[in-house]
Formats: sequence, structure tokens, C-alpha cells
Amino acid sequence: MIVAMTTLERAEAAERAMSEELDRVVVKSVLFTSGEQDPTHPAPRPPDQGKLYMMGPDPRLPRMPDKPTLLDFFTYRFAPANHLLQSARLAQKSGASEKIILACLLHDIAIAGFIRSDHGYWGAQLLEPYVDEEVSWAIRYHQALRFFADESVGYRYPAMYVKLFGPDYKPEPHIERAYLDARQHKWYMTSRLICVNDLYSFDPTVQVRLEEFTDIVGRNFRQPKEGLGFDGSPTAHMWRTIIAPTKYL
Ligand SMILES: [Fe+2]
Ligand SMILES: [Fe+2]
Repeated sequence: MIVAMTTLERAEAAERAMSEELDRVVVKSVLFTSGEQDPTHPAPRPPDQGKLYMMGPDPRLPRMPDKPTLLDFFTYRFAPANHLLQSARLAQKSGASEKIILACLLHDIAIAGFIRSDHGYWGAQLLEPYVDEEVSWAIRYHQALRFFADESVGYRYPAMYVKLFGPDYKPEPHIERAYLDARQHKWYMTSRLICVNDLYSFDPTVQVRLEEFTDIVGRNFRQPKEGLGFDGSPTAHMWRTIIAPTKYL
């Protein structure tokens, strides 16, 4: 009798086959599987067959340069950045300052390459040591501002959010508080302009190249000479985790 495998079982079998081919054992971080697995139970481990555990670069991922730049992360670790590139282009076309163009270019890097939940906060934290404080502040707060209209700049609650979260979705109290705090802040409009340029429905035929923003990044992002992840900044470990997300420790 043939017993049909569920999608999850199929995915797990494929994964087992893949990890058996690796010469190192990969144990996923709880965060990667939480929800699919019960995080309070011991994580299922692939059979180690006497192999060593992953403590270096994961051969399934593109190898990053030893001293990676921000643009290397776009190339080797971030999901296709059309959304970011087109948002930055829109800001540029509207005559926005370089700070705002950079903020638009980087506003969703947490979604593109790190952690989706609370992406504004994670993105801001990753960037904080390397950009003007106004840029990271604006990225942190765009997550909350996105949910609240501002007619003064023609910003409405996104139709996409109604589609994604339903018409009755209400942001949590901490997000509403963040919005109210941001409204009082001197950099409110910088963050608001990220929302104004935050494009969800862009033309898929328009291709914006990352290279168009090389100069703006060069002038406004303090690329560490040791490479992102290796400069000892307070967020270097976060960049290292993006480089090698499957290290055992
Ligand atoms: Fe966002
Ligand atoms: Fe966005």
C-alpha cells in the first residue's frame, strides 16, 4: 500500500537527504522552526553518523567575501531587492535627500535577509552603528507608522494590509504607542517618507539596479574596513549570523 506523504513529511525527507549529504551536522536554531516544531520540546536532530557539527560557512549558501560590504549582503544574502530598489528610486524621483533615499533602500532589509517579525526594529538595530541616527530611527518607526494614515502627505492605510491582515486588523497597543511617540518626534517626517515611498504594487517590468545607489551608499553608510560582521560593533554578531546562520554555536 502506498501511503501518501504530507507536504511536511516530504519537506522533512528532502531535508534529511540533504543534511546526510553535508559533511557536517546542521541543527537549526529554535527560531527557524518555532511553530512548525514545538519550541519547548527538544529539537529533532538529523542522525550525526559520527560527523562533526557545522561550525563554519554552510556549503549550501553562497560563500561571502572575507570582508563583506553592505552591497555584498544584497548580492549574497538578501532576497531579490526589487521592493527596496523601487522604493529608493521613487524617493529619488521625488527629489528626496540622500538620507531618505538610503532609508528607503534599507527599510526592509530585516525582511529581505534576517527576521520578518518586528522587522523595523531589527533593521534599525542592524544598521545603527553605520548610518546617521536619523536614518535608523526612521527605519525603526516605519513599521508602526505604516499602519496609520497621514493625510497631510497623502498617505493612506495600505490597501495591501486590508488584503493581508483583514479589514478588522488592529495594530497592537505597543505599535500604537510607538506611532504616537513618533508623531511627536523631530524626525517623524523622515520615517513617514519611508511609508510614502514604500511601494507594494510596483511595475514588475521595471528593473532598478543596485549599482544606481552605490554612490549614495558610499557617502551615507560607514562601511567598516574589517567587513560587516568583523568590526566589533554592537551589531556585528547580527551580520555574522546572516553570513553563517546554521553555525552550531
Ligand atoms: Fe516595512
Ligand atoms: Fe517596505
